[in-house]
Amino acid sequence: MVDDNNSPGSPDKNRSPNPDGNASPENDAAIDVLARKVQESLVLGKTHKFWETQPVGQFKDIGNTSLAEGPIEQPTPLSEVKQEPYNLPNLYEWITCDIDSEEMCMEVYKLLTNNYVEDDENMFRFNYSKEFLRWALRPPGYFKSWHIGVRVKSSKKLVAFITGVPARIRVRDDIVTMAEINFLCVHKKLRSKRLAPVMIKEVTRRVHLENIWQAAYTAGVVLPTPISTCQYWHRSLNPKKLIDVGFSRLGARMTMSRTIKLYKLPDSTVTPGFRQMELHDVPAVTRLLRNYLSQFAVAVDLDENDVEHWLLPTENVVDSYLVESPETHEITDFCSFYTLPSTVLGNQNYSTLKAAYSYYNVSTKTPLLQLMNDALIVAKRKDYDVFNALDVMQNETFLKELKFGPGDGKLHYYLYNYRLRNPLKPAELGLVLL
Ligand SMILES: CC(C)(COP(=O)(O)OP(=O)(O)OC[C@H]1O[C@@H](n2cnc3c(N)ncnc32)[C@H](O)[C@@H]1OP(=O)(O)O)[C@@H](O)C(=O)NCCC(=O)NCCS
Repeated sequence: MVDDNNSPGSPDKNRSPNPDGNASPENDAAIDVLARKVQESLVLGKTHKFWETQPVGQFKDIGNTSLAEGPIEQPTPLSEVKQEPYNLPNLYEWITCDIDSEEMCMEVYKLLTNNYVEDDENMFRFNYSKEFLRWALRPPGYFKSWHIGVRVKSSKKLVAFITGVPARIRVRDDIVTMAEINFLCVHKKLRSKRLAPVMIKEVTRRVHLENIWQAAYTAGVVLPTPISTCQYWHRSLNPKKLIDVGFSRLGARMTMSRTIKLYKLPDSTVTPGFRQMELHDVPAVTRLLRNYLSQFAVAVDLDENDVEHWLLPTENVVDSYLVESPETHEITDFCSFYTLPSTVLGNQNYSTLKAAYSYYNVSTKTPLLQLMNDALIVAKRKDYDVFNALDVMQNETFLKELKFGPGDGKLHYYLYNYRLRNPLKPAELGLVLL
């Protein structure tokens, strides 16, 4: 399972060079691509030895609308959940990672920095910061036991990692407590040894021990079977650097100076009352978001504690802005992005790409286009090189107009032990995983 979400400089979770491109990945096209991939893998006889044994939608059931929506397997009594961890090869041992500990956090950070998701051409690798990891892994109600590492017994070196955090996710009318699974990583030297399925089974076991039976995850790879297939779009903020590091290319008949001019943004935001979110805004932002997210088929269910954790600004981790009406002081609009740099691999001049990822945005009074343009202005001012957004929620309504270009990879969303009758359009998803 697992995450893989992101993109450019976002590896595999899809990268997209060429923000100057103007292809338009409609959802139908995305579904066609997925259908083709499934077809190809059937033709190639590609099987999923592990995933075929799991309670997930299977390729053979695609289009079988007689199957009911909802849990695939019923919970078992907790006493029947396996009490001991799964077996690892003899040289390795399980650990529960105490992410509060500076040393442990540093070990996890190093494993991911050197071994986590890369783009298809191995030019960029995600570089989640330690502060980000602490934020991502300690939301309200988190379980330490879901932060799982594998070490070499003799040297104690950390060689694999997987995590879950609890979340309430609404699927149509049902609010389901799930685990959001993320940060699955196996050291490069231990790949293709079937360690990943053991990691996934172990996190699943520990999730079951908390009486939770569903999970959500994203990946750049096609597994049985996506509930939706999304695409990253990228808005250049620092086009010269993006071109220099090979993230994007100079468009046809474009010069560098014309490109720089094309992506230029004003120095200050334009919306009156646009400001950073503060602690006292939590109730108003929660109301705004809950109301907004209710329109999507699958969406995160956030209460005030969640909003305080996930959306209150944390430097270099998450930024949130809102519009407070200068007349009524009502909070009418909201936008947010998280910070996920990527290491630039093998470039003489640059070592990191600073990327902002669109998170949750709500417009009620300010047009979404103007709100997101203000978000771009803020991100530019904070020195981000690129602003990324998935085509989820209502994002398609501003992407092209604000000069985002489509990425070249896909991000697939999955649910564990929950079937949907048909795949969803990205615009039916109100969920962003980190
Ligand atoms: C993803 C990763 C942990 C898989 O490990 P691996 O050594 O390549 O693969 P293993 O031999 O251990 O296991 C293969 C099984 O894991 C599954 N798998 C691979 N990547 C997966 C993913 N991202 N999510 C869920 N399952 C995945 C495979 O489909 C296969 O199962 P199948 O036979 O049923 O299809 C490893 O490649 C890695 O660390 N990559 C870099 C980081 C990354 O991409 N993480 C995932 C982010 S979503």
